[in-house]
Amino acid sequence: MGLKARSAGIAAAAAVSATVALASLWSEGGRGGVNAQTQQVAQALPALATAGSFQSQPVTQFEREGKKSGFLFATPETQAMQKDDDDNPAFLWVEHGAAMWTKVDGDAGKSCASCHGEAAKMRGVGVTYPKVSKETGKLFALEHQINYCRTERMKAPELKWETQDMLGISTFVMYQSRGLPMNVSNEGPAKQFFDEGETLYNTRRGQLNVACIHCHELNSGNYIRADLLSEGRANGFPLYRLKWARVGSFHYRMEECYSQVRATPEPYGSEELTKLQLYVTWRSNGLLNEAPGVRR
Ligand code: HEC
Ligand code: HEC
Repeated sequence: MGLKARSAGIAAAAAVSATVALASLWSEGGRGGVNAQTQQVAQALPALATAGSFQSQPVTQFEREGKKSGFLFATPETQAMQKDDDDNPAFLWVEHGAAMWTKVDGDAGKSCASCHGEAAKMRGVGVTYPKVSKETGKLFALEHQINYCRTERMKAPELKWETQDMLGISTFVMYQSRGLPMNVSNEGPAKQFFDEGETLYNTRRGQLNVACIHCHELNSGNYIRADLLSEGRANGFPLYRLKWARVGSFHYRMEECYSQVRATPEPYGSEELTKLQLYVTWRSNGLLNEAPGVRR
C-alpha cells in the first residue's frame, strides 16, 4: 500500500498543470493585511483555480441526477484502491467496527448486537444521517446516535470523535448501506437545521473570505494548488485519505476545508458542523453511498 500510495501522489502531482492565482495567498505571510488579502481573493474568485484536465465522464454509478461523486475527481490509482476491498485500507476500520458490534461493553452488559441483532439490519440507516433524534430533538450525526446508544442504553462511556473505536463502529454501520442512495430529509423537524446549514454553506469565512460554494460549485473541476476540486459531496464518509493515512469523518474533513480559508475550525461533533453536514449530505441525495471511500 505504501508504494501504491506514493505513486498515486506522484501521478497526481504531475497532473497539475499550473498553480492557482490564489496560491500565493495561502503561503504564510502573504502581502498586505487581511483586508488586502480579502480584496484580492474576492477579485480572484471567478478565476479561483486553473482549468483542470478534468473532463465530464460518462454517467456511471458515480454520477446521479447531474451530481458527481468525489470518486470521479480522484486519480485512477485512488479509484482503484476504493474499488477493490482488499486494497482499500479503510477495511481495517470496518473489521474493527465488526468486532465492536458484538463486543459487550458498559454496565448494562450489552453489545450493539444484543439489541440490534445482525449488523445487516442496519442497511438503509446510515444514509439517512444526519437526522433529528426522536428521543432528544437534537440533530444527530451517526456518531451522536452511536454515543447515545452507548451512554443511555449500554451505560458505556462515550466514544471520542476521530478515535479508532468511533471511526471503526461508524464506518462499519455506514458500510452496511453501501450502494444505497444518500437519503437525508430536510423536512419537518430537520427543516430549521437544514436552513441554517444552507446558510453556513454559503457564508464566506476565514481570512480568505471564501464560502464552500466558491470552491465546490463555482470551481469544481478546476485545480487549486495540487488539488482537483470536487463538488464537495458527502457520499463516501467516513473515508480513508492517503494524506491522513487513516479514516476520517466528515467533521474531520471540515477541519481541513475551514483551514484552507484560514478560518478557525469548529470542534468535531459541534452543531455547526452537523448542520453543515446535513445540508451537504442532502446535496448528495441520490448519489450512491460509497463508504468507506478512498481519497487522496
Ligand atoms: C478554498 C477551497 C475550499 C473551500 C472554501 C472549501 N473546500 Fe472543501 N475541499 C477543498 C479541497 C481542495 C478538497 C479535496 C479535493 C476535493 O474533493 O474537492 C475538499 C474536499 C471536500 C469534501 C470531500 C469530498 C470527497 O468526495 O471526498 C467535502 C465534503 C467538502 N470539501 C466540503 C466543503 C464544505 C462543506 C465547505 C465549506 C465549509 C468547503 N468544503 C470549503 C477545498 C475547499
Ligand atoms: C439496549 C439496547 C440497545 C443497544 C445495546 C444499542 N442500541 Fe442502538 N438503538 C436502540 C434503540 C431502542 C434505538 C431506537 C429505535 C430504533 O431506531 O431502532 C436505537 C437506535 C440506533 C440507531 C438509529 C437507527 C435509525 O433508524 O436511525 C443506530 C444507528 C444505532 N442504534 C446503533 C447502535 C450501535 C452502533 C450500538 C452499539 C455501540 C447500539 N446501537 C447499541 C437500542 C440499542
